[in-house]
Amino acid sequence: MTIEQFIPTNLNTNANGGAVTWSSPSNIALVKYWGKKEHQIPENQSISFTLNTCKTITKLSYSKKETSNNNFSFKVFLDGDHKEDFEPKIKTFFERIEPYLPFLKAYHFKIETENTFPHSSGIASSASGMSALAMCLMSIEKELNPEVSDEYFIKKGSFLARLGSGSACRSIEGDLVVWGKHNDIEGSSDLFGVKYPYQVHDNFKNYQDTILLVDKGEKQVSSTVGHNLMHGHPFAQERFKQAEKNITKLKTILACGDLEAFIALVESEALTLHAMMMTSMPYFILMKPNTLEIINKIWSFRKQSGLHISFTLDAGANVHILYPENEAEAILEFIKTELVAYCQNGHYICDRIGFGAKKL
Ligand code: PMV
Repeated sequence: MTIEQFIPTNLNTNANGGAVTWSSPSNIALVKYWGKKEHQIPENQSISFTLNTCKTITKLSYSKKETSNNNFSFKVFLDGDHKEDFEPKIKTFFERIEPYLPFLKAYHFKIETENTFPHSSGIASSASGMSALAMCLMSIEKELNPEVSDEYFIKKGSFLARLGSGSACRSIEGDLVVWGKHNDIEGSSDLFGVKYPYQVHDNFKNYQDTILLVDKGEKQVSSTVGHNLMHGHPFAQERFKQAEKNITKLKTILACGDLEAFIALVESEALTLHAMMMTSMPYFILMKPNTLEIINKIWSFRKQSGLHISFTLDAGANVHILYPENEAEAILEFIKTELVAYCQNGHYICDRIGFGAKKL
């Protein structure tokens, strides 16, 4: 598919207005996206588990402007409170997507949004938030052009979400999503995420993700700044090649259910992401002392128990603990007795693989 195919030619903006609501989950990358080109095109391919519990619910109401003008008109509410500080980000998003949604300036929008996870949890809400909004906008496009097909709806939803936040394009579907053109993944694209198209071993069905909230504060370095620091990074080209190879390796692992190989690949990806941050110029560290305490505890528990517990990290200090469903009881017990003490205010979230955005 090309970008031009996302420019609609057949929209009827006679509709006076309405409201649509979508919920969309967060996702956790197994092979990490870090570094981008212009127009939110990734430097390397990535693959993620879609989550189930951590999600954003967004209601988008739209009403025809009485007099047309050349401005975007919208207001954003989080948990019922008007959030002016969210509006510049949404304005930038609208500017980027307007060529693909030419009705945006014809309507006034009210965006009412809420997250199932605490706002100040340090969990990025951009993936779930941007994908929920993108799907609401697609529902409006479909109102204005009922001929939009299901396939186009999903692909364009992911394409629009990507322009809000890169990783958001991986939240539309589940249970595994690939973003970035890769020779070993049929249908993959730089423009949108695609549902992983191959057989996955039962070991990975309903995989669990317990998120330990180590630090709930604002990140010191945003992912936008972090991605940009990959330009001219001394290890960037090798890293991009490594991610590509890791997707190929993961394809074999997912097919044969090799949990040991999965653990090695996923943990190496997490630490490589943070190694890229530590070797950027300027350099920075997003892990906290408790992040390392948890990692060391996981390693010794794994050695001693033989269970398939592993960790991954986002661009932050929180730890995602990944494990198969049939080992959940013992691993959750270990988390509660040994790891929760390292979480800020003892907070953690039990999540697992999910299946993407839903219209409510
Ligand atoms: O979507 P962004 O621009 O916030 O980037 C997120 C990148 C990581 O979460 C660190 C990795 C990934 O692939 O999700």
